[in-house]
Amino acid sequence: MSTTRGLEGIVATTSSVSSIIESVLTYQGYDIDDLADNASFEEVIYLLWNGRLPKEAELSQLTSELANHAEVPKEVIDQMKTYPIGKVHPMAALRTAISSLALFDENADVMEEQANHLKAIKIQAQIPTIVTAFSRIREGLEPVSPRKDLGFAANFLYMLTGNEPDDISVDAFNKALVLHADHELNASTFTARVCVATLSDVYSGITAAIGALKGPLHGGANEAVMNMLLEIDKVENVEPYIRKALDNKEKIMGFGHRVYKKGDPRAKHLKDMSKRLTEITGETKWYEMSTKINEIVTGEKGLLPNVDFYSASVYHSLGIKSDLFTPIFAVSRTSGWLAHILEQYSNNRLIRPRAEYVGPQKQSYVSIDQR
Ligand code: ACO
Repeated sequence: MSTTRGLEGIVATTSSVSSIIESVLTYQGYDIDDLADNASFEEVIYLLWNGRLPKEAELSQLTSELANHAEVPKEVIDQMKTYPIGKVHPMAALRTAISSLALFDENADVMEEQANHLKAIKIQAQIPTIVTAFSRIREGLEPVSPRKDLGFAANFLYMLTGNEPDDISVDAFNKALVLHADHELNASTFTARVCVATLSDVYSGITAAIGALKGPLHGGANEAVMNMLLEIDKVENVEPYIRKALDNKEKIMGFGHRVYKKGDPRAKHLKDMSKRLTEITGETKWYEMSTKINEIVTGEKGLLPNVDFYSASVYHSLGIKSDLFTPIFAVSRTSGWLAHILEQYSNNRLIRPRAEYVGPQKQSYVSIDQR
């Protein structure tokens, strides 16, 4: 048996949800550049789940289904109020709350296609409500109920602050959601597929995926980037900070990628947004620090920014706290996870690879008093 560390380069399944071919990312064959410039997040959800862009009536049906299911069961909100505030990361809160949703869905374990589709709608609709509710609860505020007249991106920002967001913020947030929606067989999507390939339920698949996304080598990197920017604080501090980190062989968060060696196609969109939004807020230092870090890390190590690097300054410019960046990633990626979960169910086989055994051989049991 031979092994490949981290399953690098292993093709583990077929999928028609999204592809990365020669550094071009497509969702169902549509280039991410095209979607980022033109599509609403709701259109992307439809595309990922149905394999084609929606017609007008189909889009309005999906939009109203999402709006109709956006309220989270009161029990789940009440439970969130009991989480130890100040000690719980919003990703841990989200993981727990999504798992709790299953307890209040009598069809959680019904495996029929229609029931699974309804669960997909409910989870996608309720995840923004959960993230924003927890953000408010921990600040001692009451959660804001979702509004049926606002689109997905606008509703998230509205539930977070209680104020209707401006068009520039909604456009930027929508674009960020589109860019993060799916990414072939990344770690969290693989986790979701492994989970449901046992014929476990959709809620379990999403809960497992959230756990995988949480780590700093995956979705957790966007928060780590912002923490680094906050620590550096000034453009003139970038050079000594980054050079010292590189000398100490530390990883610079937001750089490098398992699949893209010539650059992540999503990063340029986020870089443009970061420039535009920081100009609007007047806090251009976040963009300037980011480009300076980019220059040094790429110059010294040949590493290019991934999706997480410029998204940090984008979300910060939208007034979002850094520990909500990864939950926001989850809000978007849920659409992709759900597409992969439904695809897995439609052509399922248990995912069960092998391990090459490297432990001791032919051991004999020794009684406890003789060890
Ligand atoms: N900073 C400094 N050095 C790096 C970085 C980095 N961000 N990324 C990779 N390297 C170096 C490694 O130290 C290693 O060097 P070595 O060969 O001298 O030991 C070499 O590049 C190869 O790196 P690996 O970690 O083996 O690459 P792998 O494909 O396993 O990891 C990963 C990819 C996890 C993304 C890695 O680049 C990393 O840790 N980046 C920082 C975290 C991050 O931004 N994660 C988000 C990824 S995108 C996403 O999940 C949404």
